[in-house]
Amino acid sequence: MAKAGPRGCCCCFLSWFFGIIVSVVVLIGVAVGLFFIIVNPQKMKVQINDARIYKFNFTEANQTHFLHYDLEFNVTLRNPNRIMGFFYENFAVGAYYQTDENVMRNYVDSAFILKLYQGKKNTTVMRHRLKGTREVYLLDSGERSKFVERFEKEKKSGIFSIDWKVEFRSRVKLSAIKIGIFRPKLRCGSSQVPLVNGQKRVNVTSNDVAKCRVKFKATYYDPSAA
Ligand SMILES: *[C@@H]1O[C@H](CO)[C@@H](O)[C@H](O)[C@H]1NC(C)=O
Ligand SMILES: *[C@@H]1O[C@H](CO)[C@@H](O)[C@H](O)[C@H]1NC(C)=O
Ligand SMILES: *[C@@H]1O[C@H](CO)[C@@H](O)[C@H](O)[C@H]1NC(C)=O
Ligand SMILES: *[C@@H]1O[C@H](CO)[C@@H](O)[C@H](O)[C@H]1NC(C)=O
Ligand SMILES: *[C@@H]1O[C@H](CO)[C@@H](O)[C@H](O)[C@H]1NC(C)=O
Repeated sequence: MAKAGPRGCCCCFLSWFFGIIVSVVVLIGVAVGLFFIIVNPQKMKVQINDARIYKFNFTEANQTHFLHYDLEFNVTLRNPNRIMGFFYENFAVGAYYQTDENVMRNYVDSAFILKLYQGKKNTTVMRHRLKGTREVYLLDSGERSKFVERFEKEKKSGIFSIDWKVEFRSRVKLSAIKIGIFRPKLRCGSSQVPLVNGQKRVNVTSNDVAKCRVKFKATYYDPSAA
């Protein structure tokens, strides 16, 4: 009898303790479940479309190579969420030509958007035009001939393959709460951009839209900037 007393009390304490833990876990589970059902968070959709090249010339002077470019494109941003809004900061769209994925060489130009807020179920289309001259870095004569060969081929066909790179920081807005800053990783790939000379329009191919894959990772969350 003397032994059963304390053990019974210990059991009752343990079952009370585990009861609380189980309730807390269930409550958290229900809260998370409700959050996903009610808020249903989805990533933003980003794409580069409706691109046109008005001028794309390759010249050489004193062993230095230049691209003279004039291109225009739309950046289409969609927030598919019913409740969440997105703030964007330092949004940059870079155009590259015959680039090396690893070093992102042969950069053409970038369009910038400093700040933008996008509310629920909103699609924002921004048209940008990039115009200028940029030096092309070619390591040796082998690389030069490869570059020129593809350039001439694409110029003849009237369609250039342009690689796109998009970067931005984003905050998530949930009614009055702002969460962030996130730095998602985007992979946009390339699109086939027609060269438009005055009235002559080249038919656009099916591959004329670059859809970006957006990846959020906890490691890109930067609480110090929030
Ligand atoms: C550049 O190319 C366009 C056609 O794409 C041509 O009309 C124009 O004359 C060229 N400009 C130069 C400076 O070579
Ligand atoms: C090429 O370089 C030489 C000497 O460095 C210079 O005198 C000449 O003006 C340059 N030509 C062009 C087209 O830049
Ligand atoms: C989308 O957002 C822009 C900029 O905030 C705003 O001007 C536009 O009215 C919004 N469109 C819709 C359909 O809510
Ligand atoms: C591209 O943007 C312009 C200007 O905002 C718009 O008029 C045009 O319809 C857009 N094109 C596409 C295919 O969305
Ligand atoms: C473009 O497409 C239209 C109809 O799809 C076709 O009639 C026309 O010949 C095409 N033009 C070129 C230059 O391929």
